[in-house]
Amino acid sequence: MRLLLTGARGMMGRDLTQLAEAQGHEVWPTDVTALRHEPEDRIDVTRSDELRSAIAEYSPDAVLHLAALTDVDGCEKNPAQAYLVNTLGTENVARACRDADLTMLYVSTGSVFPGDKPTPYHEFDDPRPISAYSRSKWQGEVAVRQQVHRHFIVRAGWMFGGGVEDKKFVAKMIELARDRDILRAVDDKFGSPTYTRDISRVCLDLLGSTEFGTYHASNQGMCSRFQMAEAIVDFAGIEGCEVQPCSSAEFPLPAPRPRLEAMECLRLRLAGFEVPRPWRESLREYVRGLVGSRSQD
Ligand SMILES: NC(=O)c1ccc[n+]([C@@H]2O[C@H](COP(=O)([O-])OP(=O)(O)OC[C@H]3O[C@@H](n4cnc5c(N)ncnc54)[C@H](OP(=O)(O)O)[C@@H]3O)[C@@H](O)[C@H]2O)c1
Repeated sequence: MRLLLTGARGMMGRDLTQLAEAQGHEVWPTDVTALRHEPEDRIDVTRSDELRSAIAEYSPDAVLHLAALTDVDGCEKNPAQAYLVNTLGTENVARACRDADLTMLYVSTGSVFPGDKPTPYHEFDDPRPISAYSRSKWQGEVAVRQQVHRHFIVRAGWMFGGGVEDKKFVAKMIELARDRDILRAVDDKFGSPTYTRDISRVCLDLLGSTEFGTYHASNQGMCSRFQMAEAIVDFAGIEGCEVQPCSSAEFPLPAPRPRLEAMECLRLRLAGFEVPRPWRESLREYVRGLVGSRSQD
């Protein structure tokens, strides 16, 4: 297939590009900052003219829309910008796909749920987002459903990945744990870690089918940030740093977080697709690879 990606410089975009190419797809990775084929690979999703001319030039079979403002607290401080990029940008992509009769895959988030359910959310639960970021992503989902008949909406949990470019939770925990005797992490909010390679594989499996719809694609199981941090420090082989649990009240943040945003991949299972591995297995593989590659630098 010929696949046009938005947000391809991001944490998931890099892995998805690599995996799609390894599977023999032709990939056109684009981002708001140019990547490989400057300047043609620069697409700002808020500019529908840029999107439409790229689609006309490249004539993809599908658009995989990953571009987003993902800084949850930044979105809370500047909601207009979140709605511009995450909602109206997604609406632009959806309309361009509708007009060119293309399949669209949109990566959304498990944080569209309010967090008051005691067990992981599945695709048949009702979303009720509680932050500007989550509302902007949910409204993006609404636009995709309204505009594009052949769509996949794939919800991710707490994403990790990115390898040597990783600047997010896993890389931060490793860096802090190497520097400190004690590391404190929140133990009263729960989610499902999601390895970028595993969710990328799910996206490509879905694209090879006609089972359009909304899917959860997190790794199996759930944990708190404390449990995730403990596992990271363990898998990285860091000794001499104790990870301690703390309450989210100790780390006040601008955006509210759901108490529970863990997900179950019920629809993937019901439709007969392979469900991602348990989160510890994927995290172990990722952290060991990351520590190994950084020690060779
Ligand atoms: N990270 C998570 O934990 C998580 C969880 C659930 C769902 N998701 C969703 O998964 C998708 C991928 O996430 P990610 O973590 O890989 O995100 P990321 O690393 O923040 O990458 C997003 C990319 O989109 C680009 N972008 C921002 N504004 C744009 C615009 N107007 N036009 C085109 N590109 C633009 C960003 O560029 P700049 O860096 O220059 O802004 C960045 O390269 C996103 O849709 C996100 O909402 C992420």
